[in-house]
Amino acid sequence: MKLEPLKIQHDLVAWLTVAGDKIRQSLTEELQVNTKSGRNDLVTNRDKEIERFYVNQIRTYYPEARIYGEEGFGDEINDLSGLIFFVDPIDGTMNFVKQKENFATMIGVYLDGEPIVGGILDVMAQRLVVGGPQTGVMLNGRPLSKRPSLDIKDGLIGVNSRMLSENINQVTDLIRLSSGARITGSAGVEFSQVIMGKQIGYISNLSPWDVAAGWAIASALNIEAHTIAGQRPSLLKREIIIAGIPTVWQNFAKLQS
Ligand code: IPD
Ligand code: CA
Ligand code: CA
Repeated sequence: MKLEPLKIQHDLVAWLTVAGDKIRQSLTEELQVNTKSGRNDLVTNRDKEIERFYVNQIRTYYPEARIYGEEGFGDEINDLSGLIFFVDPIDGTMNFVKQKENFATMIGVYLDGEPIVGGILDVMAQRLVVGGPQTGVMLNGRPLSKRPSLDIKDGLIGVNSRMLSENINQVTDLIRLSSGARITGSAGVEFSQVIMGKQIGYISNLSPWDVAAGWAIASALNIEAHTIAGQRPSLLKREIIIAGIPTVWQNFAKLQS
């Protein structure tokens, strides 16, 4: 199989754009909201429709690929071999339901566990970041450059509210060293902030489809992603991820000892 990252990137832009249009156009339609693992873990009929749309596109244009989708219309994934599309149809479903903004739709593409391209659309801001190590990164069609290094005191860090309030893994202590915390409720929006240079990092407990798109794009821009043990994200289970310019991980690691 010949891998064409730029073709995949063009396809992601087209699919995310169509999905974003569908979501915005149906905002006034009735939404069926259900819970999954708990009362704050929501899924709607829109999440399912959009995942089905992505799965149809991927099966049509990349029949050899496997699909790791949050809502279960893809494949069962237990290893990272071959071409895998990680699909999060609506990231920040709580925000989608309660705020009608601050949510994203996103896809990350990996070959044998290596990032190829990712795309994140902040649906209401209509802000699309897309790219990967071989293709470069674009924000709404304009190229983005690598993130400069900054001191921890000079940057904002996106965090998970529970990790911040309970100082899990010394995250509260880390935030005290920084310019402050930001809590958005969408991993895709948070990764986009880091990719655009508006935050220096993002720390949260994340599933593979929460991490895949952001990490694929970020890996082209001097932005790293680590587990608390300092390893690469496994992309196979939910785990705490520390993403950001190198100083974020360096300061986080120092606080763990
Ligand atoms: C969630 C959001 C949230 C993060 C959770 C994710 P979902 O995604 O990204 O910000 O803290 O860990 O599960 O369920 O709305 O797609
Ligand atoms: Ca998500
Ligand atoms: Ca989701």
